[in-house]
Amino acid sequence: MADHLSITDSRNGKVYEVPIQDGTIKAMDLRQIKTGPEDFGLMTYDPAFMNTASCKSTITYIDGDKGILRYRGYPIEQLAEKSSYLEVAYLLLNGELPTEGQLKDFTSWTVRHSMLHENIKKFMEGFNHDAHPMGMLVSTVAALSTFYPDAKQIHDPDVRRRQIYRLIAKMPTIGAYGYRHRLGLPYVYPSEEFSYTGNFLAMMYKRLEKDYKVNPVLERALDILFILHADHEQNCGTNAMRSIGSSYADPYVSCAGAAAALYGPLHGGANEQVLTMLREIGSKEKIPAFIKDVKEGHGEKRLMGFGHRVYKNYDPRAKIIKQTAEQVFSVTGRNPLLDIAIELERIALEDEYFVKRKLYPNVDFYSGIIYQAMGFPTDAFTVLFAIPRTSGWLAQWEELLQDSDQKIARPRQIYLGHQTRDVVPIGQRH
Ligand code: ACO
Repeated sequence: MADHLSITDSRNGKVYEVPIQDGTIKAMDLRQIKTGPEDFGLMTYDPAFMNTASCKSTITYIDGDKGILRYRGYPIEQLAEKSSYLEVAYLLLNGELPTEGQLKDFTSWTVRHSMLHENIKKFMEGFNHDAHPMGMLVSTVAALSTFYPDAKQIHDPDVRRRQIYRLIAKMPTIGAYGYRHRLGLPYVYPSEEFSYTGNFLAMMYKRLEKDYKVNPVLERALDILFILHADHEQNCGTNAMRSIGSSYADPYVSCAGAAAALYGPLHGGANEQVLTMLREIGSKEKIPAFIKDVKEGHGEKRLMGFGHRVYKNYDPRAKIIKQTAEQVFSVTGRNPLLDIAIELERIALEDEYFVKRKLYPNVDFYSGIIYQAMGFPTDAFTVLFAIPRTSGWLAQWEELLQDSDQKIARPRQIYLGHQTRDVVPIGQRH
């Protein structure tokens, strides 16, 4: 007999054989477990999806205990060393690394689509001067939906591809426009003379120079950071992307929803929080007192940039980012917060509280320090996460739409509220 789970229902002694496939049982197989015809059948209760696979995927593999991350089978370390962000985006979307010709085509597509409709520019001008960069990004990405009504044809692979290229191409432009808007600087149009990340840096930082040059070390460092952030299987933002996409909403509003999830301080907003925390600590001498506060805070005060739902080991992305930091600082000068971060990490990794809970630095612990050294404002850090994650969201969205197992995402609940009761007229209520 194939692998199966034998379940004995203690309520009536009935025995059920539930097949095991790929290390899982199907939750729907439990529905047959009933005490009688009126019984709805057994469900699982899994708030926050702690032990529930919501899809089958061939995109990203993580072994959280060993600290392994692979895109389409390629170790993240090799991709970060040997490829560019656009190669990785192509890989996530198509399953294979591009040939030179394929990369050239893909690059020219992303260049062609990098401009924004002038009305989008006007739309962005409407934001307050102090609007949060993620608020601007989320709403502008959603607004793109109104500019590309063809995007609704989500079952047409060619239409889908067009929106995917548009989104990947336009994200840096939206991010950069948001930055310039807050400073009151004129928006800089994208240009075909730069790489994907080079273009983003130019749109952010170009002032009056006739011949703006992108620093190659910073350009490559940002490209590596983009590679590391491109996908991370079923995290909160990607789950939002799939959940919204499952209702056949268009990819712009789905991406806006995913970006909104990313915005939260427990997810992509954590790198912003790390900097705030490091500044608050202020000096190495104050670290022990801070750690003490975290430990006594019983989960209320957290060491931001530490811990992960999946990694119970060093986050492999954090390792690469730490190395990249040195290259960036050779150009920008050393960010003094790095010394506090390194010392904080050293102390935390020796502390029983963190060791026992397997809390290690995650991707956000060092990325903010690099971004700050590169001149990005703290509250724009999550934008630097959303731009590269767009390729991952879209690869996951495509996979969802092609998966015949998928339906509209709609979890169950355990209802514990009142049973039927009668409405009392308002004047008689107390
Ligand atoms: N600092 C202190 N204690 C922590 C931390 C932390 N950063 N993270 C978890 N813990 C503790 C919890 O208090 C809990 O302790 P307890 O068992 O005594 O109650 C235990 O470790 C388990 O934590 P959970 O919250 O149950 O773990 P979960 O998997 O739900 O949370 C999360 C993962 C949200 C990432 C959490 O570790 C956290 O809040 N980290 C800080 C925020 C952060 O860096 N987020 C970025 C994650 S990476 C990303 O999204 C890109």
